[in-house]
Amino acid sequence: MMARTLVVGCGSYLPERVVTNAELSTLVDTTDEWIVERTGIRQWHLAAEGELTSDLALKAAERALEHAHIPAAEVDMVILATTTPDNTFPATATKVQSRLGMINGCAFDVQAVCSGFIYGMAIADNFIRTGQSKTILLIGAETFSRILDWQDRATCVLFGDGAGAVVLRAGRADAGAEAQPGGAGHNIGRGILSTHLHSDGSTNDLLYVDGGPSSTQTVGHVRMVGREVFRHAVVNLAKIVEEALEANGLAPEDIDWLVPHQANKRILDGTARKLGLPAEKMVVTVDRHANTSAASIPLALDEAVKDGRIKPGHLVLMEAMGGGLTWGAALVRW
Ligand code: ACO
Repeated sequence: MMARTLVVGCGSYLPERVVTNAELSTLVDTTDEWIVERTGIRQWHLAAEGELTSDLALKAAERALEHAHIPAAEVDMVILATTTPDNTFPATATKVQSRLGMINGCAFDVQAVCSGFIYGMAIADNFIRTGQSKTILLIGAETFSRILDWQDRATCVLFGDGAGAVVLRAGRADAGAEAQPGGAGHNIGRGILSTHLHSDGSTNDLLYVDGGPSSTQTVGHVRMVGREVFRHAVVNLAKIVEEALEANGLAPEDIDWLVPHQANKRILDGTARKLGLPAEKMVVTVDRHANTSAASIPLALDEAVKDGRIKPGHLVLMEAMGGGLTWGAALVRW
């Protein structure tokens, strides 16, 4: 029987320093009112000088391993979803691997911008299902503040820094099935039920960084056609959510928690509305974290697991869209 991927622990880390909209309005021509009304963002966390993506990732990873009661030595793969690596190479994941004291297995970065955590989850799930890996540390970590253009008020107010991680482990496909409540999907055991990935490179120019090693030999800054990204997000996210539910013969009312990529409160509300999902079933952190790109889903997951909202047996739907454009979803029985 093929293995099933279980989520056995989670952890997260936010830098200490908080940046409020009021503080931003002293740096660029903006107001708290504009930012809250258009995005729902009130504040975000900023990495300290010298605090790198690998530092954030390591802290989240250590907390996730501790929560899972699994020693780093048992991890056979580290996947780090990031768009803001410490260096062009080596992969930031290898730094985390080394600082965790691991010499076994492999470590690599995944680049799908805000969809990176979902892409990482799909990769991890496939390695575990086919038996090539047993225990995977999947991290989303970003220091997005480092690629913002502080002259561009339309982007610099939207993003923040942070990291989140989950520990994924091979289990039996019927693991936890006996614990399921009745109703649709009652015979589906715990773990990742399915993952769904898409990209459309013809929309590269809607959201990108205008630099890089091969093009300008500089790091560059985030550029975005905000309205177009918004329009694509609402359409693509509604479709991907449908695709994930349909693949599992489930209906929107079966979902216990929607854990969306935290881009913008209006995009989140739009997706919930399309699903007919009550607002209380959506985990929201965008007001306090802003958009932390690949880190936003694991940060939100960790919050909802630790405060007791997400419980074993719950059906959790995650979805994201980001630069590429890339988008995807993962359906997990917790
Ligand atoms: N403060 C005050 N005014 C601003 C600001 C700001 N920070 N930024 C832009 N404006 C002004 C513009 O200059 C413009 O003024 P004008 O009419 O005088 O020219 C006006 O506000 C409207 O600008 P728009 O860009 O049309 O504003 P819009 O209503 O589209 O909101 C926003 C902008 C919030 C970026 C919106 O388009 C959006 O949320 N898009 C999705 C982007 C997103 O979430 N990206 C994240 C990455 S992708 C992802 O994760 C899904």
